[in-house]
Amino acid sequence: MSGRYERAPLAKPVRLAYRVCTMPRRGKITIGTLRARKRESQKISMLTCYDYATARLMQEAGVDSLLVGDTYGEVCLGHNSTLPVTLDHMVTLAEAVRRGAPSAYLVGDMPYLTYQVSPEDAIRNAGAFMSRGQCDCIKVEVDRRLVKTVEAMATATIPVMAHLGLKPQSIRSLGGYRTQGKEAVEALRIVEDAKMMEEAGAIALLLEAVPVELAQIITESTEVPVIGCASGPYCDGQVVVLHDMVGYGGGHPPRSVKQYVNLYDQLINAFRAYAQDVTEARFPAEENSVGMDALELEQLRVLLGKSV
Ligand code: KIV
Repeated sequence: MSGRYERAPLAKPVRLAYRVCTMPRRGKITIGTLRARKRESQKISMLTCYDYATARLMQEAGVDSLLVGDTYGEVCLGHNSTLPVTLDHMVTLAEAVRRGAPSAYLVGDMPYLTYQVSPEDAIRNAGAFMSRGQCDCIKVEVDRRLVKTVEAMATATIPVMAHLGLKPQSIRSLGGYRTQGKEAVEALRIVEDAKMMEEAGAIALLLEAVPVELAQIITESTEVPVIGCASGPYCDGQVVVLHDMVGYGGGHPPRSVKQYVNLYDQLINAFRAYAQDVTEARFPAEENSVGMDALELEQLRVLLGKSV
């Protein structure tokens, strides 16, 4: 789908609509769907997604929910934290992902300092994800200190997913990416935070890097769907960073991730073969090229002769 020449159809909206229609028919996934999954003990699949093409693949593959995560800053922009990501950039990504996956449950991740300063800021910035980005909900990294902000967003009809446990936007104050809630007192605080978020109106929780047992306690004691990230099997759903599960970044994936394909090696081989083909003049071959009709070529030669 990447060819640019002789491939006008993909760029035409009418054809795009046709392509979207050829995807397997699947109803829109809503918060109602996720709640029903929790009730019926059917797990929810979520992946991070940052672009249109990948969103199409994920929807076609039946992934329930896509998170336009601020890990974009790390895995796509090459920063060493999620902090430099901007709201405008993230909303643009959400728009693209929504175009690729109209029926997925789409979650927009609010960047650093777009919701921590004031509830008014949070509502305005979340609104951009909801209206421009066509998200189903937004995600914020919170604890009890931001309960008023979550309440204000919920009151403003913004569906909120509360991200608890390891909060990468707080990395400078945490001092490192480590499991949260390994000790009883710290674990209790996270349980209480989860309850407060639910009471403040959060429609879902995301637990990152907490022990399996703690994730199970929170999942079983809340009404809302709980998505786990590196938090064991007992959550209502799972989210994984795309680049980790497809082996895009090379090296070993984190222990919590199952790698399904090693794109790093496959893509390096493909890029190497391409570079060799070009330098050794094997690409483009005749079948990759468009020629002129013989008569038109003859005419061109005549015209060139005249104009010279
Ligand atoms: O931004 C992100 O991708 C996330 C996941 C790691 C949960 O928040």
